[in-house]
Amino acid sequence: MDNQKLISKAVEARKKAFAPYSKFQVGAAILTETGEIFTGSNVECSSYGLTVCAERVALTKAVSEGFTKFTKIAVVADTKKPCSPCGACRQFLNDFGGDLEVIMVNLKSDAKVKKISELLPDAFEDKDLSR
Ligand code: THU
Repeated sequence: MDNQKLISKAVEARKKAFAPYSKFQVGAAILTETGEIFTGSNVECSSYGLTVCAERVALTKAVSEGFTKFTKIAVVADTKKPCSPCGACRQFLNDFGGDLEVIMVNLKSDAKVKKISELLPDAFEDKDLSR
């Protein structure tokens, strides 16, 4: 699957963002190891801190459908530089993604690709829970 297709899915998903408070729309599309794509947009809440980012919406949609192994995720927003996932999303993605490729994009089609291990070095992981 080429990155451009995944980016297009994220761009489409962004149109469904529910962001009445920040007015900042984000879209994401995650690719499973077996080729399925799940999309997400940010979903905001009147109690602002309960907002869920686009990346976690895409990921939890996939996981709740039984898919837990991923190869890439595209994230898009109207940012000056390619949109970078927040810290909470990095943690969540790292828990599932193997060494997931994160394709960061903005609406001008500037893109940057990094591995999740680069975005979240020395991450806390499931294996750290076994004492
Ligand atoms: N947001 C995302 O969806 N993904 C990120 O990685 C960064 C932030 C959303 C959360 C909130 O709805 C809006 O962008 C502004 O922070």
